[in-house]
Amino acid sequence: MIGGQFIHSIKDLIGESKEKKKVELPKEDEQPHIPTKQEEKKQINTVPKIRDSSPSILNDTVAFDCVLVEGKRDQDIALPHTEMQQQKKAEDLGESLLVRPILNTTQTTISHASQTPSFKSQSQIIDGKALSTKIREQLAKQAEKFEKKNKRKVGLAVVIIGDDPASHVYVKNKIKACEEIGIKSYVVKRDINTTQDQLVEIIQTLNESDEVDGIITQLPLPRHLNEAEILELIDSRKDVDGFHVENAGKLFTGQDSLRPCTPAGIIELIKSTKKRLEGKHAVIIGRSNIVGKPIAMMLLEENCTVTICHSRTKNLARHTKRADILVAAIGKKEFVTGDMIKNGAIVIDVGINRHEGKLHDDVNFEQASKVASHITPVPGGVGPMTITMLMANSIKAASK
Ligand code: GUN
Repeated sequence: MIGGQFIHSIKDLIGESKEKKKVELPKEDEQPHIPTKQEEKKQINTVPKIRDSSPSILNDTVAFDCVLVEGKRDQDIALPHTEMQQQKKAEDLGESLLVRPILNTTQTTISHASQTPSFKSQSQIIDGKALSTKIREQLAKQAEKFEKKNKRKVGLAVVIIGDDPASHVYVKNKIKACEEIGIKSYVVKRDINTTQDQLVEIIQTLNESDEVDGIITQLPLPRHLNEAEILELIDSRKDVDGFHVENAGKLFTGQDSLRPCTPAGIIELIKSTKKRLEGKHAVIIGRSNIVGKPIAMMLLEENCTVTICHSRTKNLARHTKRADILVAAIGKKEFVTGDMIKNGAIVIDVGINRHEGKLHDDVNFEQASKVASHITPVPGGVGPMTITMLMANSIKAASK
C-alpha cells in the first residue's frame, strides 16, 4: 500500500493519482530540487532512522570516496605512490626486467575527448561513444523485431528515490537511450521520504507487471533504505543491472546470466582493440560488486590471468606495471600515472571519481597515453557503453 492506496498495476505506479505521485523525466536543464524550509522540516520529521549496518553494493567505491575526503585513510592509498617511486628508481638502475616506456616511437598528435590540450601520444583511443552507436543500431533492430512479434515494446522500469542530482543525470541518459533504441521506459520517481515498505511494494508491482522486462533501482539509495534487500527482491529474470546474488552466482560459475553493465561494456571495449586476450595479465584496481569483482570474473572467462588490487594492496605499482590490461575503477582523480603502466598496455579508465558533479579520470590520461597502446577517455569511454549494455540486457531479459 502506498500513501493509503493499493497499487494494482504499473499505471498506478507511474500515473498521476489524486496525491500526484509524480513520475517525470528530468528536463534537459533541470536544476537539482532545493527543498523549501517547510519541506526540510517535514523530511527531518519523517525520514526513518538510519540503519547502521545496511550493506551497500557500492561499498568499495564509497570506501575509496572516503579516502578522498578523509585525509587519514588517504595514506592507505598514497603509500603505493611512494613505493612506486622507489621501484621506478630501482628500475632506472637496471634492477627490473620491466620494460620502460618507449616515448620516441612513431607518435601521433591527439586531443583528449574531454578537451585537454593536444599532446604527443602513442595510444589509440578506444572510442566508447562510437562503439556504443554501432551496438545501439543493432539493438534497435532487435527491439523492433521484439515489438513486431510481441505487439508491445521491450519495457525497462527505472526506480529513483530522492534528489541526488548525479543519479537524475544517469537516469535521464538511460531514458534517452531507451527512446533512441525503441524501448519503453517506466520511470518511478519518489521523494526521499519513501519508506522501505513502500519501495518493496513498488518492486513487487514491477516484478508482476507483464509490460516490464527489466527493473533497475538507481543507486545509491538514500541511507535509510536497505539496498541489499531491494536488490534481492527484484526478480532475477528482470535484474538488468545484474546485481542479484543469483546473477552474481551464475557469473561466478560461468553460467549464462544477466551481467553487470559496466564490466560487460568494458569487455566489449577491450575486444574492440582486436587484441588477443588469452594469456594476458589483467590487473584491476578496485573490488566493488559493481565493477571490480565482476570484471575479474569476465576477464578470467576470457582466459586472462587476473590480479585484483584495492585500497590495502601493498606496492600497487609493482602489480600495475605488469598489466597487459589495466582496469582502473578507483574513484580518485588521476590516481594512475604514466609510470604505473606497462608499455603497450590496454588501459580502461572506469572514471568513477565524481567531484562537484563532474566525472574525472582515474587515470592521468596525458601520461598514460604516452605509454599505453590503447586507452579509454573520460567521458566517452566506459560511460556510454554501460548504458548500451543496460539496453542489451533489457532486450535479453524480454526475449527469454
Ligand atoms: N549507480 C551508479 N552506477 C549504477 C549502475 O550501474 N546501476 C544502478 N542501478 N545504479 C548505479
